Amino acid sequence: MSACKIIAVANQKGGVAKSTTSYNFAACLSEAGRRVLLVDLDPQASLTILYGIDQPDELEFTICDLMKACAEDKEMAVEACILHEHTVDLIPSSIKLSTSEISLVGVMSREHILKQVLAPLRSWYDYIIIDCPPSLGLLTVNALTACDRVLITTTPQFFSTKGLELLIDSIRRTRARLNPNIGVDGMLITMYAERTRIAKKIYEMTAEAFEGAVPIYKTVIPRSVQVDKANYAAESIVHYAPQGKVAQAYQSFCTEYLEGEKDE
Ligand SMILES: Nc1ncnc2c1ncn2[C@@H]1O[C@H](COP(=O)(O)OP(=O)(O)O)[C@@H](O)[C@H]1O
Ligand SMILES: [Mg+2]
Repeated sequence: MSACKIIAVANQKGGVAKSTTSYNFAACLSEAGRRVLLVDLDPQASLTILYGIDQPDELEFTICDLMKACAEDKEMAVEACILHEHTVDLIPSSIKLSTSEISLVGVMSREHILKQVLAPLRSWYDYIIIDCPPSLGLLTVNALTACDRVLITTTPQFFSTKGLELLIDSIRRTRARLNPNIGVDGMLITMYAERTRIAKKIYEMTAEAFEGAVPIYKTVIPRSVQVDKANYAAESIVHYAPQGKVAQAYQSFCTEYLEGEKDE
């Protein structure tokens, strides 16, 4: 088995299916026999809630505790933070993480904290998927510094060349200053309404605007109410409705992703 790969799922826009994609991509990778850890890096803890934790604030340990211990040079067993309730593991988040961004500001090497936290976990997993918050602040910079690859999700209704340019610029700056090895996997278009002409147009515009800079996956994830139903049931869509079009699309995306890795 090849070395562990850390993937940051990023876009500073909220509501572009970062958390849904993190969870379902992880579920597909696990079905394909890979050992996967999810890391919720969003203080709003949507991924933690999707995973089935109703009250993240009541958790004893979260990513926040790991980052705080690391920033203060204290020992903390990372195992204490890992939940094993599904086929994929999770390091959860809670609203406490929103204060970390502020408390990290004065810390030496503050951009490298998450990288340090995750380093010992590389030998346990094939993939570590970080679900980023909807901002380009210090938490996202930590994710970009810790990761090997970035997966960008976007939706037709939130399509904005300017917004995506800012994100790509952040990745470029992180590469220059903090993480020379960072690569961009590509852009995944989600919540795609297949039958509308505007959706097609937007797909073409996105492909054109980023040609050469960021590859766009051939697979698009369709919009379906099943996603909300699965999220409500705290299940991945891949398990909730495996024959549904969204589950099938995430499976195709996973296959496309793994195929792409062979060329690296
Ligand atoms: N393919 C889809 N079809 C319909 N709704 C979706 C789809 N993917 C995500 N959603 C819904 O869109 C909302 C935002 O998704 P989420 O994954 O939380 O985005 P983000 O993490 O980027 O903020 C959620 O309510 C989610 O259930
Ligand atoms: Mg999210």
